[in-house]
Amino acid sequence: SSSPIVLGIETSCDDTGCAILNRRGDILGETLFSQTVVHLRYGGVNPLIARDMHRENIEKAVFKCLENSSLSMDNIDAIAVTVKPGLLISLEIGVKYAKYLSKIYKKPLIPIHHMEAHALAARMFQDIQLPFLTLLISGGNCLLAFVREIDDFLLLGDTLDNSPGEVFDKAARRMKLRNLPEYSGIAGGRAIEMAAKKAVDPFQFDFPLPLNRNRDCNFSFSGLQDSFLRHLLHKEKYHNIMGDEIIPEVNDLCAAFQLAMAEHIAHRTERAIKYCEMTNLFRGDVKNIVVSGGVACNDFIFKSIECIGNKYGCKVFRPPPKLCTDNGVMIAWNALEKLKHKSDSVNEPLEINPTAPLGK
Ligand code: KG4
Repeated sequence: SSSPIVLGIETSCDDTGCAILNRRGDILGETLFSQTVVHLRYGGVNPLIARDMHRENIEKAVFKCLENSSLSMDNIDAIAVTVKPGLLISLEIGVKYAKYLSKIYKKPLIPIHHMEAHALAARMFQDIQLPFLTLLISGGNCLLAFVREIDDFLLLGDTLDNSPGEVFDKAARRMKLRNLPEYSGIAGGRAIEMAAKKAVDPFQFDFPLPLNRNRDCNFSFSGLQDSFLRHLLHKEKYHNIMGDEIIPEVNDLCAAFQLAMAEHIAHRTERAIKYCEMTNLFRGDVKNIVVSGGVACNDFIFKSIECIGNKYGCKVFRPPPKLCTDNGVMIAWNALEKLKHKSDSVNEPLEINPTAPLGK
């Protein structure tokens, strides 16, 4: 049978996502109410607006998802919901609604860790054996972890300051990229990736390699952000047709900045690979790396990780772009993985934890 059928709900940040998956991982229904365009106007996620939009969309997201799948709540065997980490008032909307559904329709609830879901999503499409190293790079996070089991993550590195997505978004905002018609409504990181492709001379801008001497797997993006702002400040500007101050070398700066971000992320990932090898975390010859999170959509950054991985005989994977960013599918998928592997974690209490770390 294709049972169990799981309904997944995601509201940890700024996307209201919902999906229904069967045991094989077929997507029977899927909805995503993205707030990206709204938050771009504020230069970052505004928590109160995020909460209000989740509140407005959560019921629609679930109903439309059921409608798409031609199923009713009676066909659902379990409800999975993101309980950690994320914005407290955003998480609350999804969790409250999941609890409400669970009570009315008498369905079990499965709590999901948002970052674990990002890492495991890659297994929906490709046969990626455990254990594996995972790099999760997004608008809210930046971490390296080793996935020993479906529910057993070992945190290797975290960011000491910002996340790469935040830094990309801020840089794009400072360059007024979004005011150019070709980038309107496009996430900051993606706009920078597109502009970088038009670069002529990216090597005119120098960037430091952060944490060069640190013998751990942590990240730091504040130095790159400062350098970026300094470069931008020191270049002569002209006013474009929109009245914005622009530097003529904007594409070169995007390429140089993207290269610096990629180098830092690849450098920290290389340390993590070495650590995994030294401590025999990989099992046998199989050395898998999974890259996910919104910034993993960046092909240049992904290819840099692939290069580093190949140097050590690792295979590097990422989910399709739609599943790299926040969505409900990965939440339902994570619950299915827990059920398949008979993980005790399905019975954990449904406790919201905005700052939950990954692993033990
Ligand atoms: O995972 P995600 O949807 O949610 C958050 O964690 O908020 O990631 C969104 C982030 C944004 O900061 C966006 O600028 C970044 O991912 N992003 C990219 C690209 N596409 C999205 N960054 C770099 N290159 C891209 N192509």
